[in-house]
Amino acid sequence: MRILGVESTCDETGAAIVEDGKRLISSVVASSLKLQKEFGGVVPEIAAREQVKVIIPVLKKSLQKINPNSIDAIAVATGPGLVGSLLVGVETAKALAFAWNKPLIGVNHLLGHVYANWLESDKKQEIRNKRRPEFPLVALIVSGGHTDLLYMQNHKMHSWLGGTLDDAAGEVFDKVARVMGLGYPGGPEIERVAQNFKSQISNVKFPKPMMGSGDFNFSFSGLKTAVANYVKSADFTRDKIPEVAWLFQESIVDVLVKKTMAAAKIHNAKSIVVGGGVAANSQLRSVMEDEGSDKNFDVYFPDKKLSIDNGAMIAAAAWWQQDIAEPLTLQAEPSLYFSNQ
Ligand code: KG4
Ligand code: ZN
Repeated sequence: MRILGVESTCDETGAAIVEDGKRLISSVVASSLKLQKEFGGVVPEIAAREQVKVIIPVLKKSLQKINPNSIDAIAVATGPGLVGSLLVGVETAKALAFAWNKPLIGVNHLLGHVYANWLESDKKQEIRNKRRPEFPLVALIVSGGHTDLLYMQNHKMHSWLGGTLDDAAGEVFDKVARVMGLGYPGGPEIERVAQNFKSQISNVKFPKPMMGSGDFNFSFSGLKTAVANYVKSADFTRDKIPEVAWLFQESIVDVLVKKTMAAAKIHNAKSIVVGGGVAANSQLRSVMEDEGSDKNFDVYFPDKKLSIDNGAMIAAAAWWQQDIAEPLTLQAEPSLYFSNQ
């Protein structure tokens, strides 16, 4: 079964064809990131205007070598996201489903990030791709707007365990990078400069907020403030940027990994899956994989390019969930979250 997945929740426009929830037939992503760079963050109005501009070219490109008759259903991310951006994808998908007379499936964007882990993508990774996450599992979603831990018994049953009480993980990467005068998005910048801190020994200490709170919530604003205060202090010089980036990254990764491991243990999870833009972080990948193998959990990360927003993850989630919606009434839901949240 082939599903066309459409993603337009924020500043990326994605369209992809995925077969049986895992095989990538085509995937096209356009991003307004370059335009947002000069503002140091996403400006909703710019994001929405770009969505309008590129949605048809992106769809056309994803369908280039494909006969629309071979598509069995259309999936679209209905939220959470920016209302102007969301409306573009949702209304386009509705129009296509109506015109082509195909079933329409609305997808929670956050579950899309989880289902990126079911996608086969890179041929070189064939061996790894033969493995699939097994239930019950714990999912960590770490993106620019969200940080959530989810327990999934199977494809249909999931419950929210906890999330951030303030800033999302990606958002703190972006803000800390900005404080140090690094570029946007901050995550890849922090990762890049942190690699230059070779000794990994420092007298500076940043907090690991809520590390031992005993629940599955997060709070990162204290860490962000601690880094900002240090950067503004007399002790800071620009040559300390790699050290600060490394220490900050270490703090945030340790909290994310410790809480995910605790959730997996308490729920007897077989697998741990990670998704969202911050899942592209190499330090998070290596610490999570090491801890997972230590504690006997199979750890999954999507390919780096499938960690950031794309249409393929929406098509994959739709195949496994298959909640058919009515094309004439499906709505964008900017505040969509998890049902038990
Ligand atoms: O999932 P995503 O593409 O968009 C949202 O749904 O929000 O996530 C974007 C976030 C940004 O905050 C960006 O700084 C972060 O993911 N990010 C990273 C890395 N690559 C992207 N954070 C840490 N390390 C990275 N390598
Ligand atoms: Zn996302």
